[in-house]
Amino acid sequence: MNKNGKIGIFDSGIGGVTVLKEILKILPNENYIYFSDSKNNPYGDKTDEQINYLCEKIVKLFIKENCKAIVIACNTASAKSAKYLREKYLNMKFIAIEPAYKMVHDYSYDNPTLVMATKGTIQSEKFNLLYHKYDNHKTILLPCVGLADIIENGNKERIREYLINNLEQYKGKIKNVVLGCTHYPLIQDLIVEVLGDVKFFNGAPYLAKHLKEVLVENDLINESTSRGNIVFLDSSNDVQKQERFFNLIKT
Ligand code: DGL
Repeated sequence: MNKNGKIGIFDSGIGGVTVLKEILKILPNENYIYFSDSKNNPYGDKTDEQINYLCEKIVKLFIKENCKAIVIACNTASAKSAKYLREKYLNMKFIAIEPAYKMVHDYSYDNPTLVMATKGTIQSEKFNLLYHKYDNHKTILLPCVGLADIIENGNKERIREYLINNLEQYKGKIKNVVLGCTHYPLIQDLIVEVLGDVKFFNGAPYLAKHLKEVLVENDLINESTSRGNIVFLDSSNDVQKQERFFNLIKT
């Protein structure tokens, strides 16, 4: 493991770009390799075993690519596989996203809260530990089955329709929204259209801070003074996805 190694980041698709963007704000000079597993998307409805298998394949690729740290930029993969990967790859630094529910506890405890995440995340043991530890007793857990998939495909009208069908009932009743899937920050404006003015909680800025701390503590910060590069890989070799990914980084 050395300072010049890359940072590997993965998600079931391009949603993890919302995490990479936060990381780039504070670690612009690192080199990144982003893996979008769109061939196997969505992860939200898969079993633990299936997700362990898929994540491990990506981790092996990152190790071959000389990665010094791996960011799990998918809440579902973090919830289901982070423990498995950490136990198996003891020499690798794993930094895993999780729904920012603790932030609700710390900054907006008294307010009614909606946690949006995949079914896999909401049913996971990891999320349930977090939820029961910080429960504000005014929280609705909403498994958004299929939403990450629709966002991945990028059809705005279908996303709008999904949100109207699933969120409109909470309009005026919710103050906090936890974006518990890395695809959801991409549709914040559409959520506001349906729910009105709400406070969003996104785990990505905290993950970025934590990643930097881990690199500093382990003397792994790249000392280059120029911007690093970003390599994008997609398991279905989708060229359009690559274009969308780099556009999203710019915006
Ligand atoms: N971005 C993933 C997450 O954070 C989406 C999971 C999926 O593919 O269902 O959970």
